[in-house]
Amino acid sequence: MSDSYKYKQYGVDDTSNTCANPALSEVLEARFSRRSLLQGTGALGVAGVLSGSFATLAEAASVPFAKKTPLLGFKSIPFSSDDRVVVPEGYSADVLYAWGDPVGIKGNMPAFKQDASNSAAEQAVQAGMHHDGMSYFPLPLAATGSKHGLLAMNHEYTDDGLLHVDGMKKWNADKVLKSQHAHGVSVIEVEDTGKGWRVVRPSKYARRIHANTPITISGPARGHKLMQTEADPKGVEILGTLNNCANGQTPWGTYLTCEENWDGYFVNDSGTLSANEKRYGINNKGAGYNWAVEDFRFDLQLNPNEANRFGWVVEIDPFDASAKPVKHTALGRFKHEGATVTIAPSGHAVVYMGDDQRFEYIYKFVSRNKYNAKNRKANMGLLSEGTLYVARFNADGAGEWLPLVHGQNGLTAENGFADQGEVVIMARLAADKVGATKMDRPEWIAVDPRRPGSVYCTLTNNSDRGKDGKPGADAANPRNGNLFGHILHWQENGSDAAALGFKWDIFVLAGRPDAAKAEHVGNIKGDAFGSPDGLKFDHNGVLWVQTDVSTSTVNMKEYQDMGNNQMVAVVPETGEFRRFLVGPKGCEITGLAFTPDMKTMFVNIQHPGEPDSERNDPAKPTAISRWPDGANAGRPRAGTVVVRKLNGGVIGS
Ligand code: FEO
Ligand code: CA
Ligand code: CA
Repeated sequence: MSDSYKYKQYGVDDTSNTCANPALSEVLEARFSRRSLLQGTGALGVAGVLSGSFATLAEAASVPFAKKTPLLGFKSIPFSSDDRVVVPEGYSADVLYAWGDPVGIKGNMPAFKQDASNSAAEQAVQAGMHHDGMSYFPLPLAATGSKHGLLAMNHEYTDDGLLHVDGMKKWNADKVLKSQHAHGVSVIEVEDTGKGWRVVRPSKYARRIHANTPITISGPARGHKLMQTEADPKGVEILGTLNNCANGQTPWGTYLTCEENWDGYFVNDSGTLSANEKRYGINNKGAGYNWAVEDFRFDLQLNPNEANRFGWVVEIDPFDASAKPVKHTALGRFKHEGATVTIAPSGHAVVYMGDDQRFEYIYKFVSRNKYNAKNRKANMGLLSEGTLYVARFNADGAGEWLPLVHGQNGLTAENGFADQGEVVIMARLAADKVGATKMDRPEWIAVDPRRPGSVYCTLTNNSDRGKDGKPGADAANPRNGNLFGHILHWQENGSDAAALGFKWDIFVLAGRPDAAKAEHVGNIKGDAFGSPDGLKFDHNGVLWVQTDVSTSTVNMKEYQDMGNNQMVAVVPETGEFRRFLVGPKGCEITGLAFTPDMKTMFVNIQHPGEPDSERNDPAKPTAISRWPDGANAGRPRAGTVVVRKLNGGVIGS
């Protein structure tokens, strides 16, 4: 999703964090002046900081590259405003799986109807709306092949103006149910036939998980009184997952789906909001999904604890369509963007996570037990127990992981945290208490496969930085009115993902050299982009960056002529950025997976045809996009695209 809909629609302030954690402007000053760069403004100043950063990083990295620097062999493509997916010369891009396509459940494979007249029951066995994070799993389990596998992918949210024949007119329970069924996750079986990729239908793996699918609770909040409801008095099972944004993939072959803007489905019209509700942005309006009027589970006056059951990371076994998904409360409750898993040298599983809202935090989780490559069943419990940390970025370029552990750092009963269950349920309040650093909307996090402990995080933008008394520029978020975003890098101490400290620096400030305002000037060496969001390393060490410039921002003068959302390939060692893909009109590029041989790339196109208001109205069709079905086919739909090199070569080479 682009900027959170409700904030625009209802004029609500998109900042839930009003705690007094320091704005680090004094930190910025110390850091810049140490490098004698304070006088530099605009491009030179920024680029100078960054080249200094690279030197620091090279010194800090004790582990040599496992492989040589990857080379980009494709010809960069220009900006595009076309209503199609553009890829470089010598590449193809074909649609594989779009909203409404049957997932492939035997005997239940209803076709998509372009007038949106599919029923709620049909939607429950079809691709959901608004594809997002995605992972590829070779078949069978533990295989490494590149011709046959599973794709697990998220369906983040619904545009009810496209989902129903007459949009949101004549609202009823069936429409709510259809919207709930269009959320969640798809698992599809895919194969390369030799003439291209297809979805295998029917398939025993085919599965839809949506907003009413039973999900087990694990971790410190399992059974907690704040998780208990009338329907689930023991607090052990939740119905559904929603607003599934980015994702993660574990080495033991499971898929992680992350609940992001879940607050917008709930309404509390009582006139009194708890500190917990306020801190997560819950209010009396929701975000326009209108579920609460038909499904009282989402009315917090009637079901005050139901909102505590969302905002988690959910683990799914894609190899077993009957396996119940698990919400892992040990990983904390916030507006989860993604969950990037790596294994520390000690064998502990480490999960990096961003909380995507303005002035929110970056977290990591370290498992209590160790990964065992020979015991998949034991690994399934790894995310149930461990330590959650939140990041602080210090003045001297060092950083700390601050534990969110009951009884430590003021996380005590006197301060409002009765036990570890409350610490994870109110993770944002706990992170405030320990002094975490407020960031410019942390989105995806990627770990360099060739350099242990080397981690990158997209900070997509924050136009409120320094505005109306809000925190101003600091070292880790160095631009006021940050319209283009940046990518942060850190190197864990000892190259150990489980370390308690790290050295950090800014990898790139996004933007365009000719932008109107000096503070927006970027240092990109190669092709310009803004609002980085999706971020993933491929198997060769190329870092892929996907952008999510909101539709209203695309039309701002600073973004003028930058075209539709895009994907760039980056070589971290050289700082080379090369544009590889541009999406159709009004879309976001998000979700990325590769086959192990790197000859197939799967990319998700989200919300093609999104208008400035971020919701379509069938009574006033805009015809911004007809992707992917073409001019006469009606509604635009999100879809998965297969990208290949025409000569069968490695993508990006
Ligand atoms: Fe769903 Fe933060 O993007
Ligand atoms: Ca985004
Ligand atoms: Ca995102």
